[in-house]
Amino acid sequence: MSEQLKPVGVIGVGWVGLVTAACFAELGHRVVARDIVPEKVEALSRGEVTIHEPGLEDLLRRNKERITFTTDMDELLAGANLLFVCVDTPPTYSGDADLSRVRSVVQELPEDSDHVLIMKSTVPAGTGESIRRDKPDLAYVSCPEFLKEGTAVQDFLHPDRVVVGSDAGDETAGDAVEELYKPLGGEILRTDVASAEMIKLASNAFLATKISFINEIANVCEEVGADVGQVATGMGLDTRIGSSFLRAGIGYGGSCFPKDVSALKMLAGNTGYHFQLLTSVIEVNELQKRRVVGKLEKHLGSLIGKRIALLGLAFKPDTDDMREASSLVLSARLQGEGAEVVAYDPVASDRAADLLGTVEMANSAMEALEGADAVVLVTEWREFGELDWSAAAERMTRPLVVDGRNFLDPQTMVDAGFEYEGIGRLPREAPAPAAAD
Ligand code: UGA
Repeated sequence: MSEQLKPVGVIGVGWVGLVTAACFAELGHRVVARDIVPEKVEALSRGEVTIHEPGLEDLLRRNKERITFTTDMDELLAGANLLFVCVDTPPTYSGDADLSRVRSVVQELPEDSDHVLIMKSTVPAGTGESIRRDKPDLAYVSCPEFLKEGTAVQDFLHPDRVVVGSDAGDETAGDAVEELYKPLGGEILRTDVASAEMIKLASNAFLATKISFINEIANVCEEVGADVGQVATGMGLDTRIGSSFLRAGIGYGGSCFPKDVSALKMLAGNTGYHFQLLTSVIEVNELQKRRVVGKLEKHLGSLIGKRIALLGLAFKPDTDDMREASSLVLSARLQGEGAEVVAYDPVASDRAADLLGTVEMANSAMEALEGADAVVLVTEWREFGELDWSAAAERMTRPLVVDGRNFLDPQTMVDAGFEYEGIGRLPREAPAPAAAD
């Protein structure tokens, strides 16, 4: 390990903090990571990783000697000068971001010029300015995160871009953060603090807008007999549009898009500006989850007493994160219509069980499908693509699938004996019966 590398401090070892700590250690830095929850710190110190994130456990194991987990702020301050704040900023009842955890961290930091506060938590534009007013001697840099759950380690180590926002007087602190990220090779964009804060919110809001847009296109495709997959491919070939985030489905979830779209809308609203577009983005997303109910009713009539299997519960594959997962609204709606709901997720079942109350949890996809009147694919886990769907059709009372992520091949499903409903996909005919000899 090079002795030249600066130690890094991480405050808050949730999902972002833990990935940040592990990745800086992988780059050769010593890392001191501090969290206020003793059980979490003890578990991490024992080498137990509490979240499901591909590659993270390996990285933490490999760099065990470089990372110290602690609850002690003084230990953190003594061990590192560059302090990444990674605490969560959940939505409040008003839809604004809850900054109480950020504020309590700032209160604990000294008013000195030796430490640099580097804000990774997603905060409304203007937060940096107000922190600088409170702690004028503490250098402040905004360095928003653009990691995706499920690929966070890869995203950190191979960034598209790194945004480093600093205001007059804090240029040296900004330079120090730039140095930390240089070895990763992504484009580094230097901005002022408020612009860095806006880049984060605007990026998430734009991606969410793309998803709601393609979901509305999918709904129109259903009306006019077009296929949203082909439409998205055709649109995405235009480099001005780009092909990513044009996958139609039953809406976006997670800890970021719903929260950040709302926070940006509220941030604008608090200044007196009505961000109309985002109001629609949110509404389209809410209604999109519920369209599954109509699709099931089209085939089954009333859902009272019908057994509906949900495959996948996490808000996306390769994570056990259930925050704002579409499965939560969907299962509640189905139960509201009188359906009996059974569900399976490869990794999120335990977390989901606490949230889903009366939903029956199955131990495998096949077990969930046993005797079901329909199956809804909610999360596109790879194992669902590899399932023996012909065998599944035999086990079901009625082999009907609503593919909420357009993940399965419609013709394969029809050939396996299913009635197939996607989102904005063209209907498929069942194969003609074999001619009698
Ligand atoms: C998102 C952003 O993509 C990251 O850049 C950002 O750093 C992160 O939020 C954050 O603010 O922390 P994440 O929430 O992990 O990352 O997941 P995404 O892969 O962006 O997916 C979000 C949701 O959109 C999922 O429910 C996914 O199923 C849905 N989605 C995504 C679609 O419905 N269609 C698409 O084409 C893409």
